[in-house]
Amino acid sequence: MTQDEMKMAAASYALDRFITSNIFLGLGSGSTAEIFLAELAARVKRGELENITCVATSERVASLAKGYGLQVQELNDVRGLDVTVDGADEVEPSTFNVTKGRGGALLWEKLVANASKLEIIIADETKLVDRLGTKMPIPVEVIPFGWSHVAQSLRDMGSEPILRQRENAPYITDSGNYILDCQFSNIENASELGDKIKDLVGVVEHGLFINIVGRVVIAGTTGAYELPLPN
Ligand code: A5P
Repeated sequence: MTQDEMKMAAASYALDRFITSNIFLGLGSGSTAEIFLAELAARVKRGELENITCVATSERVASLAKGYGLQVQELNDVRGLDVTVDGADEVEPSTFNVTKGRGGALLWEKLVANASKLEIIIADETKLVDRLGTKMPIPVEVIPFGWSHVAQSLRDMGSEPILRQRENAPYITDSGNYILDCQFSNIENASELGDKIKDLVGVVEHGLFINIVGRVVIAGTTGAYELPLPN
């Protein structure tokens, strides 16, 4: 299976097991979530699913979903969501804690996840890690004003922050902020680290999703399967 076929297997698994008609559904961002979105739209078009109200986790996904003809609302305009299906950059199987934000949508992704009764992660096996922060830096969304001072504080906490760039300029999130990608050499307690990062003035949010994820669907070379729930 190619990586796209693996992502499709995870998306189809999540749709088959968790998505019914008449729900409020959070749409994740990233390539895996976009494959899920395309398959969702196909099923809605075929009449297999109906009355799905979507809330997107990025401007890009909102625009894609509207382009597919799906019903999209702002998070402010719904009371809550039944389920959100999103991708991840790292998945820790023993805790279901994940790292997100390589695509820059971590703030909206966390807000939508927190508004959802169930957060489902779909990912391929390459995302599995023994410990968060080993395969990618932790993205930290900061306001542009004074960002270099926040970067210094993150450096003092033991990381090597790099201001994310796009086309030779700082990358700007959908909320108008910057992202500092922070490589920590060894994250022993992701929950404590997340709290410390969040305490820094100027930090809006970070990409450590702790105690948020309820189900994880992994796609491997032989197909999709669910990780067993943590103890
Ligand atoms: C977006 O900000 C991210 O959190 C994505 O969910 C994450 O990067 C996964 O993306 P892929 O499915 O493209 O790997």
